[in-house]
Amino acid sequence: MDIKTQLRELMQRNNYSIAHISTATGIAKSTISMWMNGNYNGKIDKITDKINNFIQREKERTDNEELPIADISILKYIFEIGRLCHTKGKIGVCAGKAGLGKTVAVKEYTKQYLDSILIESDSGYTAKSLLLEIHKRLGLSGKGSVYDLMGEVVNKLNNSGRLLIIDEAENLPYRALEITRRIHDKTGVGVLLVGRHILFENLRGFNNQYDQLYSRVKYHKFLDKLLIQDVIKILELTGQNPALAETYLMYSDGNTRKLEHLITHSISIARFNGKAEVDGAVIKKTSKLLMA
Ligand SMILES: Nc1ncnc2c1ncn2[C@@H]1O[C@H](COP(=O)(O)OP(=O)(O)O)[C@@H](O)[C@H]1O
Ligand SMILES: [Mg+2]
Repeated sequence: MDIKTQLRELMQRNNYSIAHISTATGIAKSTISMWMNGNYNGKIDKITDKINNFIQREKERTDNEELPIADISILKYIFEIGRLCHTKGKIGVCAGKAGLGKTVAVKEYTKQYLDSILIESDSGYTAKSLLLEIHKRLGLSGKGSVYDLMGEVVNKLNNSGRLLIIDEAENLPYRALEITRRIHDKTGVGVLLVGRHILFENLRGFNNQYDQLYSRVKYHKFLDKLLIQDVIKILELTGQNPALAETYLMYSDGNTRKLEHLITHSISIARFNGKAEVDGAVIKKTSKLLMA
């Protein structure tokens, strides 16, 4: 494909205007138009170089986009436990290291089961702000005293069969975790708490003093590492050679985020070194670069 056609396709695909190309390449708009129509009488090589550069940059940029979502074991566990909590109205906990794919999984779950409510908590959450957020998410005003908020949330959720998912639940102070238990007790809705391992300790408390809450957890799962089948699935989805799965698994430490970076960067590095395909040596080299 010649370079003009490549540029035209890129513009069409991404809805880029001549003005956008001009800003990105530093070539005047009128020059680009003339060049595209074959009417440019100036130094063609210079223009071609700049356009080529731009096309290459765009290629590398899109190579680094996120992977399509794969049906990996982490996602399956979260769906399984989520579904149990949801249909049986119980409390469940899924915990594992950062970057495994927990947030991706709970977002997929809420896309598939629209009656679930996903709260993405952060370290600023208190019992009241959690309650306010749930209140708002139920289409209510998000205002009022803790007592009123609780009453209205309970009214709305009572026997609704919905699922309340709290992501990064390790951020919640104990009193906020207690709020989720109370909502569960009063309404029968399922609750799924997702977070890092420390979430289990938060639920138990020092010396297990919070046994009241912990003893209510019906389902729990420690999420560990990706399995070899997971890596094969991700490689197949991205059009990569599944024979590299063992190597990718080893160098990514079984972590989904690391694996994603390793795959996209290995592809770029293979290309940069003029190799047609990624091989073990490229993965090893890339993993060293990513550690740095
Ligand atoms: N099922 C999946 N398929 C493909 N990529 C995934 C999947 N789950 C996670 N990832 C990738 O791994 C990265 C980390 O996932 P995330 O859900 O944020 O991890 P966690 O919440 O466990 O810290 C995401 O940016 C995503 O690109
Ligand atoms: Mg997360």
